[in-house]
Amino acid sequence: MSSNGGTGRLLGVLAGAVPVGGRVLELGTGTGVGTAALVGGLAGRGDVGVETVELDAGVAARARDNAWPEWVRFHLGDAVELLPGLGVFDLVYADSPGGKWFGLELTIAALGPRGVLLVDDMTPEAWWSEEHRAHQAGVREALVSDPRLVVCELDAAGGLILATRVG
Ligand SMILES: C[S@@+](CC[C@H](N)C(=O)[O-])C[C@H]1O[C@@H](n2cnc3c(N)ncnc32)[C@H](O)[C@@H]1O
Repeated sequence: MSSNGGTGRLLGVLAGAVPVGGRVLELGTGTGVGTAALVGGLAGRGDVGVETVELDAGVAARARDNAWPEWVRFHLGDAVELLPGLGVFDLVYADSPGGKWFGLELTIAALGPRGVLLVDDMTPEAWWSEEHRAHQAGVREALVSDPRLVVCELDAAGGLILATRVG
């Protein structure tokens, strides 16, 4: 379930563009692959905070087992429950069902002015269930039709949607 290399490289590029004092959020830490890509893009700057949310305590523990800079913060819990209390971010990578399939509106609300949102796994796969297809279609439609967002669909790395909040 870890993000792929293409997504990781884009995460690094996007993180590198976050301004001084900015904030980055990942929904769905998993074992920390995406978190590592974000941290790598910041290249030791230390002037941006990275926060990541994971529901599964066992998975979160595996991610936290690695050595992380002190400006990386791990949240344990349901992204949908935590999002309203986390504040606003310059970059959000929504990679958990919570905050993507469910509660996407909360994720969009967590984008600051000119905040950038990345979602991946947007190209339907033959093996997906009907439910999975419905979730993907719902996320895509919500993003491309949201007047607050400027949206770009990229046919790369399993299908990416990149959005900037302008309204
Ligand atoms: C696709 S994996 C994340 C992969 C990771 N972002 C990466 O780049 O390698 C999705 C993760 O979301 C977690 N998850 C599922 N529901 C969640 C929720 N409601 N809130 C937070 N995390 C959730 C799962 O336990 C899983 O670890």
